[in-house]
Amino acid sequence: MVGTLRVMGGKPLGGEISVRGAKNFVSKAMVASLLTPETSVLRNVPLIRDVDIVSELMKMHGASVDYDQEAGVLTMTPGQLHLPDDVVGMDMLAGSSRIPILFAGPLLHSLGEAFIPDLGGCHIGGRPVDFHVNVLEDFGARRIQEDSGMHLVAEHGLRAKPVHLPYPSVGATEQTLFTAVMAEGITELTNAAVEPEIMDLIAVLQKMGAIISVDTDRTIRIEGVSQLHGYTHTALPDRIEVGSWASAALATHGDIYVRGAEQKDMMSFLNVYRKVGGAFQVDDDGIRFWHPGGALHSISLETDVHPGFMTDWQQPLVVALTQADGMSIVHETVYENRFGFTKSLVDMGAHIQLYRECLGGSPCRFGRRNFYHSCVIQGATPLQAADVVVPDLRGGFSYLIAALAAQGTSMVYGVDLINRGYEHFMQKLENLGARVEKIDVEANGDIVVGSD
Ligand code: EPU
Repeated sequence: MVGTLRVMGGKPLGGEISVRGAKNFVSKAMVASLLTPETSVLRNVPLIRDVDIVSELMKMHGASVDYDQEAGVLTMTPGQLHLPDDVVGMDMLAGSSRIPILFAGPLLHSLGEAFIPDLGGCHIGGRPVDFHVNVLEDFGARRIQEDSGMHLVAEHGLRAKPVHLPYPSVGATEQTLFTAVMAEGITELTNAAVEPEIMDLIAVLQKMGAIISVDTDRTIRIEGVSQLHGYTHTALPDRIEVGSWASAALATHGDIYVRGAEQKDMMSFLNVYRKVGGAFQVDDDGIRFWHPGGALHSISLETDVHPGFMTDWQQPLVVALTQADGMSIVHETVYENRFGFTKSLVDMGAHIQLYRECLGGSPCRFGRRNFYHSCVIQGATPLQAADVVVPDLRGGFSYLIAALAAQGTSMVYGVDLINRGYEHFMQKLENLGARVEKIDVEANGDIVVGSD
């Protein structure tokens, strides 16, 4: 629980901020660079903790990684890779990320073995890795479970196998791409995830020399090749961050221009935003989001894989829905446990109830399985300041929005976690006129007020 923010709420956010590359693409494009010893260059890379974590993991495997923060340019040269000597250090890094398991394919191709520490990431559901492991084993990797993780070995290389995912998982689709791209033979991957970040990853792999085609029915075909080359690429913008700031504008009665936002990958978000009563205007350089005055409207919403409404947009939007008149229903179908954050919103005055049933939409795989994965929000209710603890990345940003919308002074504990996916969020809040103070506790127990 590191870093505390004192938030004096009740003031609309207004002004301009910019977003850079998508967290959930950049980290994967970094892993892709490990498929060749040659140099790759990735542009539009944000300064976020996830980039640090993946850089450190790559360095532990012998790669050279250089990041020009201001320019947002990452230059990566894997050269001759090796397994890390420091399993403990690796473990500590992995403890905060989902990415290490994606190192499996590139390492098995270049070294014939990989060590994958036990994974971390946000606590929003069980987040198993069974799909990943099945793909790796089907392609010929042997798994040896060790105390702090799994050791994978493929002495005789990897061979293509048909893959059908039980659910269009983003990570398992990426795992299959990394494994199949240099495996012997053709892989047909059905029920694949087709998120824009995955399409951008496929574009990177094609630049590297891969042969990959995508059908309209979630089928991806990958023809294995024996060698790949370095790439130069500009990351697509972070649509989750854009949606987060858009929800902040709505919840605080604000007006935010998000430079770098792109309309095409945000269609489902923008439709919902308009239905709720939010206003937006798209131009060539970004999107302006604002509360046009008057009442916001309640809605019924279901999260889904692309092209549906992203689960990662859900948490910030729920805060805005507490300010909408009437009863909103949100059915979370991607993660079984992504409503834990609503408890603190209730403490702040929101009327939110959770249900095990699949409400307001089609039945999903979590129905009747004891997961509180539907939520009903009765608004509009004024929010009151409270002391809250950041539960996970998106939940944490949602608490910032709630605290900014609330009357009074809130303390938000554990805000440093937000750096994992929101570049310079403190500076951006200040640019938007938020009354926030970062409070650090020094080793001697003194409280120091400063900014991030
Ligand atoms: N799943 C399994 N078995 C697996 C893999 C996934 O059952 O082996 C299940 C998960 O438990 C979940 C569902 O499939 O219920 C979808 O998970 P998915 O694999 O798609 O998620 P992920 O790859 O772990 C990425 C993002 C998440 C984002 C999801 C969905 C990264 C690093 N993370 O996670 O982002 O919510 O896709 O779009 O790319 C975030 O940025 O805050 C975040 C959580």
